[in-house]
Amino acid sequence: MRRQVVIIGGGPSGLLLGQLLHRAGVDTIVLERKTRDYVLGRIRAGVLERGLVALMGEAGVDTRMKADGFVHDGTLIAYDNDMFRVDFAKHTGQGVLVYGQTEVTQDLYDAREAANGDTRFGVENVVVHDADSDTPHVSFDQGGQHHRIDCDFIAGCDGFHGVSRKTIPETVRRDYEKVYPFGWLGILSETPPVNEELIYANSDRGFALCSMRNAQLSRYYIQCDASDSVDTWSDDTFWDELRRRIPASAADVLITGPSIEKSIAPLRSFVTEPMRWGRLFLCGDAAHIVPPTGAKGLNTAASDVHYLNQGLRQFYLDRNTDGLDRYSERALARVWKAERFSWWFSNLMHHYPDQSEFDKKMQLAELSLLRDSPEAQAVMALNYVGLPY
Ligand code: APR
Ligand code: PHB
Repeated sequence: MRRQVVIIGGGPSGLLLGQLLHRAGVDTIVLERKTRDYVLGRIRAGVLERGLVALMGEAGVDTRMKADGFVHDGTLIAYDNDMFRVDFAKHTGQGVLVYGQTEVTQDLYDAREAANGDTRFGVENVVVHDADSDTPHVSFDQGGQHHRIDCDFIAGCDGFHGVSRKTIPETVRRDYEKVYPFGWLGILSETPPVNEELIYANSDRGFALCSMRNAQLSRYYIQCDASDSVDTWSDDTFWDELRRRIPASAADVLITGPSIEKSIAPLRSFVTEPMRWGRLFLCGDAAHIVPPTGAKGLNTAASDVHYLNQGLRQFYLDRNTDGLDRYSERALARVWKAERFSWWFSNLMHHYPDQSEFDKKMQLAELSLLRDSPEAQAVMALNYVGLPY
């Protein structure tokens, strides 16, 4: 079997790249180890930067997003039992689009199926061979059969636990990592959101976030111990703790209900360099992870896809390798800025177990600077809506 590009991973990165390449007439195959339903069952952030919104349009998959997504022109920051608003539109002329990542992935799968794209689910033992040669290939097992795909390029879109990053020799690769001493306990409930826009809250008891998927589907998070288990959190204990972490003006109008999903996510910052090795290119979570505080995971995967799509199109249309040769440098320049914002926002909003009284005063000083300084708010707004590609 031969394809121009083998895409390992059928998550948002792999699917978006596959759709963009399809529209350029580039022949791809997507190898996904889980089932389609499993991939679509993942609950992830739903805040889309302007760049991703534009890419979805370029990919021809933005019809539902335009109909169902809703624009947020700002967000609320809460501390000391009060809240202030950061106005994205005032500072950047832009907002963000609230549209669930599950919906993004659904739209991309629907488009790939409509185009008869070749997607293999339930694959096992994916191995990248000779990526550092001009004749790479990928092998995998499926349904008891062994397969080989000769190709021009491999896109490693297989997330943090995939095989692609580990294919790059440790002598070539350098990893950067920060593990945060807490996690996020998230709950999904079929209740109206407590507020029209998101509320990010810093409280003495820890971080909380009030978000949503639509007018009848809310998403809430509270910071928890990294060692916490979902089993120790009943719905009632979650709601009680959330109420204690957000300002009374919000807690008093919070509508609670049974959780339809409840899970704990660890927080980590991670980057691997380079994002290319020979004819293997890493995209998205395969190359980098951010704490969810700034909702930069999907959005930074999108900018990787943008740069790689540009490079591959340039190669196939003009046999020019400039875009591919600059991919890692271009992608990492934006990745590190997203890592910085996510790290800054996480440090600002969370209660650290070993936090000193001085550290707490620094957080409060930064929060009051953000509250009182239009310039500080402009910098946050610029990062939140998304730095240019
Ligand atoms: N072979 C084939 N598929 C694999 C393998 C493998 N060895 N390892 C992982 N995968 C699949 C996973 O099952 C998953 O569906 O690769 C996909 C990777 O998808 P994500 O982890 O979602 O990563 P990405 O597509 O880069 O999306 C980044 O989406 O999931 C969120 O937090 C993530 O917000 C970030 C964004
Ligand atoms: C979410 O809605 O799941 C969400 C929103 C914003 C974040 C993180 C998660 O920063």
